[in-house]
Amino acid sequence: MRATLFVMAGSAILAAGMAIATSGHAQTGVPDDADPRTPIRLTAEEQRHIVETMRIFLSGSQAIMEAGSEGDLDRLREAAAEMATPRPMMPGMGARLPDSFRGMGQVLREDLAAIAALPDRTPVAEAQAAAASAMYTCIACHDSYRVEVVSSRGEPGG
Ligand code: HEC
Repeated sequence: MRATLFVMAGSAILAAGMAIATSGHAQTGVPDDADPRTPIRLTAEEQRHIVETMRIFLSGSQAIMEAGSEGDLDRLREAAAEMATPRPMMPGMGARLPDSFRGMGQVLREDLAAIAALPDRTPVAEAQAAAASAMYTCIACHDSYRVEVVSSRGEPGG
């Protein structure tokens, strides 16, 4: 009986060892394989909303770069204004976003709105520099969060 238990314990240890081996470093705490970003649990519809916003951010960033290279302050300001315009979220979604996630979205929009409001004679290089520094917020948020899609959680508004 005792021998059998030992064998079972032994194979359990072996199985655990294999699980660690096959999952790379995930269970040993080596940061390489681990994803340190905080997951935000959202429905597929909410995730789609974020991704659509991001596409606007990406094409807006492209427009800012292009307008900057052409010395076109008007177009650069227009692109920033479009990116700064908030998109209404679905009911209850805001409450599920962490404060610091919402805060970074807010800071980005404020920085972009300030670029959109730059006075007429602003050197384009200055507007470009402001856009480049606003985009540190894109990086900060991407480094901090990832979306985890969950099926509806049966909460009101969920
Ligand atoms: C407040 C947080 C936040 C900010 C600020 C932010 N993003 Fe994102 N972004 C996300 C998250 C979260 C995802 C992942 C969404 C997913 O795939 O589920 C994402 C995904 C993306 C994607 C991939 C979209 C796709 O089609 O899969 C692009 C491109 C992107 N962001 C660009 C930007 C740019 C450019 C900026 C700045 C101008 C920016 N983001 C600012 C949170 C943010």
